[in-house]
Amino acid sequence: MKKLVGGNWKMNCTLETFKETKDISVSRDCCVDVFIAVPYPYISQFSKYMNECIKIGAQNVSKFDSGAYTGEVGAKMLAEYGVSYVLVGHSERRQIFSETSNDINTKLKCALRHGLRPVLCVGEPENERIAGSHIDFIRKQFGESVVGLENTSIDVAYEPIWAIGSGKTAQLPEIEEALQLIRKLMLESKISGRVIYGGSVTAVNARDLSKANGCDGFLVGNASCNKDFQKIIDAAS
Ligand code: PGA
Repeated sequence: MKKLVGGNWKMNCTLETFKETKDISVSRDCCVDVFIAVPYPYISQFSKYMNECIKIGAQNVSKFDSGAYTGEVGAKMLAEYGVSYVLVGHSERRQIFSETSNDINTKLKCALRHGLRPVLCVGEPENERIAGSHIDFIRKQFGESVVGLENTSIDVAYEPIWAIGSGKTAQLPEIEEALQLIRKLMLESKISGRVIYGGSVTAVNARDLSKANGCDGFLVGNASCNKDFQKIIDAAS
């Protein structure tokens, strides 16, 4: 399977961000899949600005298929607008919008039902890391999120919360330990797919981070909103 590099623009962008990143590309024979998860209103604009080798991603999806759910956007709508990848369970959704692993499980099923490729995000907060309970935390979070997903294929991003947007990238042994655990849990749950790392990945550290054993790519926040994203794609490939 190809490596995967995803960008997550969060709510940190404007239409100007497309102009800044419009030349980002992936060579035809390249061994990496690339997507950028943009805010909903930008999805229909995406192909106007971006190179066609960059796939469209969404940052969230409703846990409902359709109905009277004001403010929600369903997986079928995303698929109709050409979205390929969708982030599910990002820590900002879990923490700020109180999404539970049960919600995330329902979202994963909605996404898969409509042909989207979900990127499930898991990762521990700093207190769990300090207490040395991060392994149990990740195991529980992953297990609850993937109930009933046997024999499916999804990608999983390990994103320690303390590394997101903090400039405090996880160390290679920490990343390798978590990626190895997630791969084992995926095998046990009969789930296939890639395991990637996210949390303060930059144009400067991407080359070193890509040496982490078992790292199939990156999920990138801040550094995906500018030309640095190209350097990260190149480092992963
Ligand atoms: P960051 O964000 O690269 O800015 O740390 C990563 C993420 O939130 O996915």
